[in-house]
Amino acid sequence: MNNENHKRVFVALDVPSAPEAKALASTLAGHVGGYKIGLELFCSEGPRIVEEIGPSEVFLDLKFHDIPNTVAACSRAATKLGVMMFNVHCLGGQAMMKAALEAAREENDKVQVIGVTVLTSHDAASLRDMGIEDFPRDMVRRLARLACEAGLDGVVCSPQEISAVRAECGNNFVTVTPGVRPAGGALGDQKRVMTPNEALQQGATWLVVGRPITHAKDPALAAQNLFN
Ligand code: C5P
Repeated sequence: MNNENHKRVFVALDVPSAPEAKALASTLAGHVGGYKIGLELFCSEGPRIVEEIGPSEVFLDLKFHDIPNTVAACSRAATKLGVMMFNVHCLGGQAMMKAALEAAREENDKVQVIGVTVLTSHDAASLRDMGIEDFPRDMVRRLARLACEAGLDGVVCSPQEISAVRAECGNNFVTVTPGVRPAGGALGDQKRVMTPNEALQQGATWLVVGRPITHAKDPALAAQNLFN
């Protein structure tokens, strides 16, 4: 590992097969702090992919959002896989977040349970389309408050909202930030972005980086150069 900053990076293994995911993970070992397994890989390969990558280094990003009873049950199942962190949608409501946390902690009191606030692919216009008049920052702040009152360990938000989350929930509250793009890098579908260094300066606990590393010609080099 080059430096402390790289230990804060979860690389998003957004690929459709176990061989591709394992190849990326082994290429990036030593250059990142952990691996994010999301919907594409999990739906393609099932829970065994968590075991194959190494559960203690996995952030399971399945964004649970359902009634409290269902989310409690899948949170228990996710925790049993041994992952270090998983997430639920804050929009499921506080009762759902509390149910998720309680069920997870019954299995493992160390697992980190994180709430997804407003996806980094949203902006004010797309929130308005859904009838939400808040600006993303205000909505993130509102949802972060619900999450910290529910007892969650932290939230997923864009780097642009870290200071609002810290103001609402304090410095010990974990912030996980996708929407990270090297200066001049392609945004893809991300709208609320910052560079890796800016995200760290804002106080991000964890950075989630996908395509800037995984679509690079040399992913290990891209990871190494992330903070240059
Ligand atoms: O490729 P990119 O760096 O945009 O990848 C970001 C990753 O973070 C994707 O796997 C995406 O699903 C995830 N994510 C996100 N926004 C959130 C939560 C997770 O982009 N709010």
